[in-house]
Amino acid sequence: MYNVAIVGATGAVGEELLRVLEEYNFPVKKLVPLASARSVGREVEFKGENYKVKELTCEVFDEEDIDIAFFSAGGSVSAKFAPCAVEAGAVVIDNTSHFRMDPDVPLVVPEVNPEDITFWKKKGIIANPNCSTIQMVISLAPLHKEFGIKRVDVATYQAVSGAGKKGMEELFEQMRALFNFKLDKKVEEREVFPWQIALNVIPHIDKFMDGGWTREELKMVNETNKIMHTNIEVAPTCVRVPVLRSHSEAITIYCEKEVDVERARKVLADFEDIKVIDSPEKNEYPMPVIATDTDYVYVGRIRKDLYEPNVLHFFNVADQLRVGAATNAVRIGLKWIEMEGEQFLKDKGKK
Ligand code: A2P
Repeated sequence: MYNVAIVGATGAVGEELLRVLEEYNFPVKKLVPLASARSVGREVEFKGENYKVKELTCEVFDEEDIDIAFFSAGGSVSAKFAPCAVEAGAVVIDNTSHFRMDPDVPLVVPEVNPEDITFWKKKGIIANPNCSTIQMVISLAPLHKEFGIKRVDVATYQAVSGAGKKGMEELFEQMRALFNFKLDKKVEEREVFPWQIALNVIPHIDKFMDGGWTREELKMVNETNKIMHTNIEVAPTCVRVPVLRSHSEAITIYCEKEVDVERARKVLADFEDIKVIDSPEKNEYPMPVIATDTDYVYVGRIRKDLYEPNVLHFFNVADQLRVGAATNAVRIGLKWIEMEGEQFLKDKGKK
């Protein structure tokens, strides 16, 4: 059993982490929820019990004898405090982008590259990839094995909860104002998204970088290849849509071999944690309302290109707070325990 800290326990992903740890029966000896000084005294629930939130400090990991620390409080918090947790003898599972491209930090989707976990000791940190990347690589992995992917074009339809609780509140507020015919005023008050998000779509997530690409798009490019150990060309367009939860992606893959729709369906359906929903004659295909609150990547609308025999198109949806964040982090934790846990406890004199 392990002493577990949740950094950012009051946030959108932190709350989901508590739920998933409970559902997966994670071997928690002691739970320590951490957040900013603003949240001290607040309570969170885990396995029917209330836990008081403590302030995140560098010392708390040592004081509480933490073994596993899940971080989900933003990149600057991880940059400052993850090294404290490692110094105190914990393994850090970090949900932010801060350490993802560090060559000494494994970037892991357990269904795709569990073996990379063995490199965790280099820095004591395992990074959880970007949410849009996680659901995409889970569906790319079996297709790559079957057809050899050379290039991916993807357009995302990303839910507002990807921007945390404040993102959801901003959509709620704007919808409320809209129904009261006062949207103009509220739009002036927006904080999270660069434009009105209610009844709109915004082709802009995170900062603009060189060449007109956004940082979110470049995360998908770089992280996909780090996870899959490939040099696939990836061209994403990341778009925010007024959906509360679950990201969708329209994906086109260009392959070395000729694609086959039936074979694609089969290898996708056989892969861990994928559900194929692809019955157009019954209007059945993946959508956010199906994926929300589940731990699967849903794939459908699978079809061969009209012109090129090596090109396949499909649509993919997953709950990004779970598959794209909390559940992936918990799955990393469980895999790490399976692979490294015994030795870790022995080294700490706990076994
Ligand atoms: P708090 O609620 O005390 O601000 P979200 O992604 O939903 O916005 O949540 C962010 C999470 O990260 C919250 O739990 C938030 O705590 C936490 N957090 C943000 N900034 C800090 C900080 N400087 N120190 C500790 N926790 C932080």
